[in-house]
Amino acid sequence: MLRGRRVVLGVGGGIAAYKAAEVCRRLVDAGALVSPVLTASALRFVGATTFSALAGERTRTSLWDSPEVSPHTALGQRADLVVVAPATARLLAAYAIGLADDLLVSTLLATRAPVVLCPAMHTEMWEQPAVQSNLATLRGRGVHVVGPDAGYLAGGDTGPGRLAEPGEIVTACASVLALQGGGDLAGLRVLVTAGGTREPFDAVRFLGNRSSGKQGHAVAAEAAARGADVTLITTADRESPVRVQRIDVDTAAEMEQALAERSDGADVVVMAAAVADFRPKEAAPTKLRKADGVPEVVLEPTPDLLAALAARRPPGQTLVGFAAEHGDPRPGAVEKLRRKGVDLVVGNDVSAPEAGFGHDTNTVVIVGSGGMQLNVGPVDKRVVARAVLDAVVDHRSRR
Ligand code: CTP
Repeated sequence: MLRGRRVVLGVGGGIAAYKAAEVCRRLVDAGALVSPVLTASALRFVGATTFSALAGERTRTSLWDSPEVSPHTALGQRADLVVVAPATARLLAAYAIGLADDLLVSTLLATRAPVVLCPAMHTEMWEQPAVQSNLATLRGRGVHVVGPDAGYLAGGDTGPGRLAEPGEIVTACASVLALQGGGDLAGLRVLVTAGGTREPFDAVRFLGNRSSGKQGHAVAAEAAARGADVTLITTADRESPVRVQRIDVDTAAEMEQALAERSDGADVVVMAAAVADFRPKEAAPTKLRKADGVPEVVLEPTPDLLAALAARRPPGQTLVGFAAEHGDPRPGAVEKLRRKGVDLVVGNDVSAPEAGFGHDTNTVVIVGSGGMQLNVGPVDKRVVARAVLDAVVDHRSRR
């Protein structure tokens, strides 16, 4: 989606500006023609030369030092997309009220291209009603917002306010461009499940698993970036990928209901969720008390959602399952492919280091009919997501 597209990369004055260099490099790697615009404060954190070298285009820093007579309109009119990373509290405020006091805000005001803002600031600033209200105003005008994540901040603090990961920002840019058409999944409706289900046994306690939802969210983000119309059914407390319709659920029964309502219309269903195999037969309506003794939790099996989807799938629908295995995932993945009657199974060894539940990276084997087997990783879960969708495209082209 980014190949040959003109992207203005605006960089605001925050410590996360150093990560914008990585965003720049990844945009260029994806084939975008990047015009870096740094604010005066950004220049206190990072150098214009860094961005010029990465982008292969001179970094612009002011309304007044450019060879163009009117750099903001030239940049704004030419752009296919403007992304700002980091978007500071000042930038959000200036853009929200239309205060064109520097080249970056002037460019934002002079463009009709879609805008992606990636806020980053200290938690106290991020949580200020003024900042949130500016962001709500901008969202209301159709601006896309990515992040911030929670994590380590400058000065040793932790909390929400960290710039989203560069890979996530670039995927979001591709998703937004996909809105304008194109992408190899354009026109396909993709339904993805993510996260581990939580099965209650009283009003506050549940049986769950360690699935973080990262892999399923990555599949949803990549599918949107490639032009698909994506619905994500998730249990995970994670950011929604850009341009994805999200449905939050908790239990296997809620996921079953959400799937029942939407799976018929889907061209592709990717069941990345770790659905509980057993659930408490009964859940106490109140919190169980210690004084009442140790509860005896009787379990019952949950329905196999994926197998049920396979049994009633509409013609042409592609079904992808996951197989969480201990040790070599190949035999289990191949067995599930057959037993569940699906098209592809992504097997992973959840006991392997840096793979499976909770990690940013994964190592998987994708198995399909006709003995197809593809090893992927260890790589970022976003790259695994890409490989899964490539396998889907390949499978659909062979039908
Ligand atoms: N799955 C499902 N419904 C369930 C359990 C699992 O739809 N009740 C789906 C998962 O989303 C995943 C696939 O089935 O795509 C495989 O899940 P997994 O837990 O690895 O397999 P199980 O069917 O539970 O088999 P086993 O317990 O033998 O590993």
